[in-house]
Amino acid sequence: MESNSGDPGPLETMATLNTVEEVARGVFRHRYVAPAIADGAEPGQFVQIEVSHLAFPVTRRPFTVSRVMEEEGAFEIVFEVVGRGTAILASSIPGRSLSVMGPLGRGYRTAEGSWALIGGGMGAAGFPFLSERVDVRLAILGARSTEQLLPCEAGELLIATEDGSRGRCGLVTDLVFEACLDRYDHLALCGPLPMMHAVVEFLTEDVLERTQVSAESRMACGWGVCEGCVIPCVDGYRKCCTDGPVFPASDIDWAGWMELCG
Ligand SMILES: Cc1cc2nc3c(=O)[nH]c(=O)nc-3n(C[C@H](O)[C@H](O)[C@H](O)COP(=O)(O)OP(=O)(O)OC[C@H]3O[C@@H](n4cnc5c(N)ncnc54)[C@H](O)[C@@H]3O)c2cc1C
Ligand code: FES
Repeated sequence: MESNSGDPGPLETMATLNTVEEVARGVFRHRYVAPAIADGAEPGQFVQIEVSHLAFPVTRRPFTVSRVMEEEGAFEIVFEVVGRGTAILASSIPGRSLSVMGPLGRGYRTAEGSWALIGGGMGAAGFPFLSERVDVRLAILGARSTEQLLPCEAGELLIATEDGSRGRCGLVTDLVFEACLDRYDHLALCGPLPMMHAVVEFLTEDVLERTQVSAESRMACGWGVCEGCVIPCVDGYRKCCTDGPVFPASDIDWAGWMELCG
């Protein structure tokens, strides 16, 4: 199987759930053995995982590939339980075989040079994979509390927690507003839309041009067919699942996206 970065073809494989870890209350790390996905995935790509339970059929749910262990033919996701699909997935036990589509979408355009990563909450789920492929000099991470913080390798780590249990007491944006981001060649941004909007509003045009955003939108098919995942861009609507989920920040119509999400 080949990577389908930028290619809408659905690639489906059976993945065996190998390990389940509750890394924080309601936040789970799952490791799946699926060599076809582990071999082909690029940072920023995602998988669509079957979460159906006999009594509760729901559509697949999308999750960023958090890390790959190529030698084990395995990949990991980290997710928070927010509704029925994630609750069903969280109740899965090791040894279960699940249908997974992926790797899907366009990931980060990895490039040489220094990187700064900015992540809010589960938005940092994909950073471990990205930080294995690029030179991350700075990571600015925010979470509700210490236990919700996701790990990330970086030369310098700046942390904000809403309850003040680690780092700055406040929001990730408080740290962003104080950072010298123009000294980095590339920026990666992922998190809740209002947080990302506040960050891009703050960036100079020059830095915005070097920023990539990992977008999230409700997805059904995950491979370009249903058009349910579109987000407004400066040249019209684009599909988050196949044109993204990683977009150049300057391609997005931020005001339009904020309006769409109410
Ligand atoms: C490309 C992509 C990658 C993702 N990666 C991760 C990840 O690594 N870790 C993680 O925890 N989550 C990730 N998500 C979000 C995850 O897919 C949703 O949390 C999940 O589908 C919710 O399913 P549910 O049935 O539990 O919740 P539902 O019952 O469907 O919804 C519960 C609540 O979550 C909101 N919600 C659900 N899906 C989304 C979404 N896609 N965007 C914004 N709000 C949503 C709903 O509006 C509702 O308020 C990703 C989403 C996308 C599109
Ligand atoms: S989720 Fe169906 S087109 Fe994107």
